[in-house]
Amino acid sequence: MKNTPIERHLIDETINEFQIVDFSKATIREVKAIASKAETASGVEFIKMEMGVPGLPPSAVGVKAEIEALQNGIASLYPDINGLPELKKEASNFIKAFINVDLSPEGCVPVTGSMQGTFASFLTCSQCDEKKDTILFIDPGFPVQKQQLVVMGQKFETFDVYDYRGDKLKEKLESYLKKGNISAIIYSNPNNPSWICLKEEELQIIGELATQYDVIVLEDLAYFAMDFRQDLRLTLTGFSLKWRAVLRAKIKRQLPEKKKISRRFFRVCSATS
Ligand SMILES: Cc1ncc(COP(=O)(O)O)c(C=O)c1O
Repeated sequence: MKNTPIERHLIDETINEFQIVDFSKATIREVKAIASKAETASGVEFIKMEMGVPGLPPSAVGVKAEIEALQNGIASLYPDINGLPELKKEASNFIKAFINVDLSPEGCVPVTGSMQGTFASFLTCSQCDEKKDTILFIDPGFPVQKQQLVVMGQKFETFDVYDYRGDKLKEKLESYLKKGNISAIIYSNPNNPSWICLKEEELQIIGELATQYDVIVLEDLAYFAMDFRQDLRLTLTGFSLKWRAVLRAKIKRQLPEKKKISRRFFRVCSATS
C-alpha cells in the first residue's frame, strides 16, 4: 500500500466512526472533526484550510467599550428590547459614512453577524405573504444560508449569476419573479468564493424588478469593504472628532450621489467587515 503522511487506516477508521459514506460530501464541520481526531492520534499537525480565520485585531475602541460595559454591570441586565440607542445611531452614521445611504437608527438592528442577520431576515420575509413561500438565491451565495432555510422548512430556488451578468440578469430574474412565489432575493456582494461584485446596472435591475414584483432584497455584505467598485478601506477609528468630520466630508465627496434606497432592501453587514 502507498505510504501516506498519516497512516491510511487511521483516517479510514475515523471516517467510518463518523458514519460518512462519501467523504467528498462531508461537511466542513465533519472534515474539521476528522482532522482534529487524526491530528491527536498521529501527532502530525494539519494545516486547516476548511475555514478562513481572519486573524485581524479587533478595533481598540470596541474592546475598550466592551470592557467598560462589563465593568459597569451590563452582564446583569437584559438588553433594552428596542436596542441600544447609541449603537443604533452609530450604525446609521456608519452606513451614511461608508455607503452614503440614509437609514434611520430605528432601521438598524444589530445582530451577532451576517449569518444571524440573514436567519432573522428569512424568518421575517417568509411570513409577509403566504403566497410567497420561496427565497431566491443569486449564487455563488453562502451555503449556510440555504441550510438555515432547510432548518426553517422554507423553500428556496437558486441560479448561478456567472452566465447572467449585465442585461441578461433581467430576463433570468424575471423568469422566477413572475411565478409569484418569491418573497425575497438574496445575494452576497462581494461574494465568497468568487469575489465578484454586482455592478450598478445589475443592482438597478434587481431593485426595479423587486419593486415591480413586490419582493424584498437581502444584500449580504459580510465582505463589505472587499469591493472593487470603490475603495472603502479608510476607517474613521483612531482619529479625533475634528479629523473624523474632515474624513467623513472627504469620503462623502468620493462617493456617488446620495443613493435612494428602496425600503425593500435589507442590508446585512458583518461586524467583522
Ligand atoms: C458570503 C458570506 N456571508 C455571510 C457569512 C457569515 O458571516 P458572519 O460571520 O458575520 O455571520 C460568511 C462567512 O463565511 C460568508 O462567506
